[in-house]
Amino acid sequence: MRNENAQVLVVAESSDVQDLILSAAAAQDLSALATTDLDEICKAWSAVETIFVDEKQAEHLISRALPRREHVYLVGCDQKRLATWSTPLGAKVIILPDGIAWLGAVLDEGSTSAGGQVVALLGGSGGVGTSTLAACLALAAAKKKKTAALVDVDPLGGGIDLLLGAEAAAGWRWPRLGGAEGHVGDLREYLPKVEGVSVVSMARENPADLAKGPLTAIIQALRRTHDLVVIDAGRGLTGGSREAIRLAGRRLLVVAGTVRGIAAADQVIQAHGCPVEVVLRRTPGAAGDAGTVQDLLGQPVVATIGDDKAVALAADRGDLPWLSARRTYLRTCAKLVA
Ligand SMILES: Nc1ncnc2c1ncn2[C@@H]1O[C@H](COP(=O)(O)OP(=O)(O)O)[C@@H](O)[C@H]1O
Ligand SMILES: [Mg+2]
Repeated sequence: MRNENAQVLVVAESSDVQDLILSAAAAQDLSALATTDLDEICKAWSAVETIFVDEKQAEHLISRALPRREHVYLVGCDQKRLATWSTPLGAKVIILPDGIAWLGAVLDEGSTSAGGQVVALLGGSGGVGTSTLAACLALAAAKKKKTAALVDVDPLGGGIDLLLGAEAAAGWRWPRLGGAEGHVGDLREYLPKVEGVSVVSMARENPADLAKGPLTAIIQALRRTHDLVVIDAGRGLTGGSREAIRLAGRRLLVVAGTVRGIAAADQVIQAHGCPVEVVLRRTPGAAGDAGTVQDLLGQPVVATIGDDKAVALAADRGDLPWLSARRTYLRTCAKLVA
């Protein structure tokens, strides 16, 4: 397949994998070049938005020492083999068949016209302030006149609408959106709004995990209509939250600066196997400073949040934590979404 102005490069021979990627690209109106010709690959390597390489071709590419770039994905079924090529190629790995839902998302992520940024918030341990930070990041973006959506994918987190004092607000929540597939239109008028933020909350009755198809469809729909989509992935223990973490272009891990908090966060990083940015949550008596936490976890600490009693008190009163938080907390949120 020839295409001079391709947006997607597919380094694969004719196969089911090639078909799958080409149809995912076609579904998003993206033009694709499928080739195994090394000259063609070298020419397209820096010009396209997203690159997919299948298992068979990965080995050939490594010997070409192509320049490092973002949005390169290795696609196939053999996890161990793909992991071997992942580092030399600087590529993320999509394992089939589970990763099919991810294909659409990475095409969207790589495409410059795709829409807003998707940030997933992940708790290094329980009760560390992940949901509060997720909500405050979305609110911070809205304050800066950005359009923001907050998506709760933690079925056992109590529902993020409750944290926002919006439990009685009319509008659709996950059970209503759980049947979505494929291209979903503009959801803004159907979702509850808090201070301008569109909220997709979990239900408190019969909490259930989210299936990959609807999750991907809803996140993509929100991306198209918002500058920022913040996902509260909780501890990332469910299938839905793991998928949401993979869909995100950025992952923030909230880590308590205690010995056990750091140990638990390390386990979370190992469980997900993807790079994260650490937000260090200080608690009274916690010894871990940013440098130590960064060294121990091998991931960058991008911000520190202090213990803010006003945040906890506001939450207990059912008030929006954002309205009571100290200025340092708000400044950190603004910095993280800037
Ligand atoms: N920076 C903070 N300082 C003090 N208390 C906080 C802070 N962030 C959150 N909290 C409080 O900690 C508790 C757990 O917060 P939550 O955001 O639900 O954590 P998680 O989602 O990690 O379980 C809540 O009572 C919340 O009000
Ligand atoms: Mg939570």
